[in-house]
Amino acid sequence: MSITSIGENRHKVTTATLAEKKSRREPITCLTAYDYATARLVDEAGLDLILVGDSLAQVVLGYDSTLPVTMEEMLHHTRAVRRAVKRAFLVADMPYASYHVSVKEAVRNATKFAKYGGAEAVKIEGGLKRIDVVNALVDAEIPVMGHIGLTPQSVNAMGGYKVQGKTLSAIEDLMRDAVALDNAGVCCMVLEGIPREVAAMITAEVSTPTIGIGAGPDCDGQVLVIHDLIGMTFSNPAKFVRRYADVGSAITEAVNGYKQDVIAGNYPSDAESYHLSKDTAAALEDVIERKRAIR
Ligand code: KIV
Repeated sequence: MSITSIGENRHKVTTATLAEKKSRREPITCLTAYDYATARLVDEAGLDLILVGDSLAQVVLGYDSTLPVTMEEMLHHTRAVRRAVKRAFLVADMPYASYHVSVKEAVRNATKFAKYGGAEAVKIEGGLKRIDVVNALVDAEIPVMGHIGLTPQSVNAMGGYKVQGKTLSAIEDLMRDAVALDNAGVCCMVLEGIPREVAAMITAEVSTPTIGIGAGPDCDGQVLVIHDLIGMTFSNPAKFVRRYADVGSAITEAVNGYKQDVIAGNYPSDAESYHLSKDTAAALEDVIERKRAIR
């Protein structure tokens, strides 16, 4: 990027913007997006962060957890989102098994998001347990978004999607994870599914911006899955989800309206049809007349 283009792009959100927002106590806004159209709308609305979350697995691809989604699927959607996003800081989620086998493989996979997906950071789940991976990614110049608390890729190990950090020893573990990520230099960290009091304590303790989901209002920012926010999911929403629209019902109504119009012959109308020019229509009429006369 040249100096001029940096100047033109001065509103671009970067890791520095996130740190400044924390220091100024300005809330950081984050939503997920998985496709070009949605990402464009979210970016144009001025959100700070856009996450191509592995929740893609459930809300877009219909899997029953985040575990099956692959590197190829995540990369495919990250590229679509990249084409739309001009201002927000773009983070791609590393899918399950893309960073669990070895540090080397984790770095190789993360560089694919940076090099071929256009992601500006990657997100990985886990704190102390994944600190070697986090260190290696930071060393490879890839900003990392941490993710602790309820980590959906650990659903089987956790025995379900359960609020974490509810006992004193679990709180201590969470704080250790948060401090380890902070020391490793992550650019921000998601706190998911933990008591408000614990999220507030972590947010006050670490210099890294915290982004909460089901973690109460005291985090430095908030994230939601966009399908939850707009009412495009098929199960009961979690306690922390606030629905801002019912896009699912709007789609159903539109689809039924179209179906009924087609069945009734009301779609398309003459005004919705293409027409020949007057001269060509007259010439065509002549041709039809002559054919009729021969018969
Ligand atoms: O995959 C995802 O959408 C996430 C967010 C909910 C933080 O991890």
